[in-house]
Amino acid sequence: MKISSTEFIKSAFTQEHWPRDARPEIAFLGRSNVGKSSLINSLLGVRGLARTSRTPGRTQSLNYFLINNRFYFVDLPGYGFARVPKAIKASWGEMASDYLAKRRELVLSIQIVDSRHEPTTQDLQLNEWLQHHERPGLVVATKSDKLSNNELRKNMERIRKTLHAETVVAYSAVTGRGRDEIWQVINVALDAGF
Ligand code: GTP
Ligand code: MG
Repeated sequence: MKISSTEFIKSAFTQEHWPRDARPEIAFLGRSNVGKSSLINSLLGVRGLARTSRTPGRTQSLNYFLINNRFYFVDLPGYGFARVPKAIKASWGEMASDYLAKRRELVLSIQIVDSRHEPTTQDLQLNEWLQHHERPGLVVATKSDKLSNNELRKNMERIRKTLHAETVVAYSAVTGRGRDEIWQVINVALDAGF
């Protein structure tokens, strides 16, 4: 897709702040510091649109970015920061789970995991929850530049098995690996609509 415009629209802290213009939305989900904001910036080929940080838990609201005046990327707060190994809701906030359960405009949820590690319990819970709610999803394993080809192949297989996912895209915000594959899935989701 050719990106002709990207614009930060707002940070939504409550449901009343969600946009009402019925444009489709692509959500980016994953634990704190996994690379959600970096993925957004690198998919769009921009620097610093979504704020990235070495400090986990930086993104605390739903951050809306309008792309080509046509659809939104939504950067969600990371989970797992509070280190409370209970239900996603308890540790991750009512706002994000509300959004995922209710939002009609949501056409694709991109779940990001770290390619170096086995998916966490919360990764697994989120994945099962999305499948249970029949939300179209895509699993992306990022930071693949930090692994050798051999390690990556092994880890990708482990992630696929643990999450029972048919497709897991290996990604790197540093090299751009996986970019075309993700855009293909986004295009299909946008065409399918809601
Ligand atoms: P929160 O908003 O705090 O939940 O974090 P986030 O998931 O948005 O992560 P963010 O994009 O801020 O990235 C966290 C750190 O990981 C930053 O230091 C990034 O530079 C680094 N990072 C993200 N993606 C990659 C990648 O593909 N490769 C490498 N080497 N580093 C990455
Ligand atoms: Mg972030």
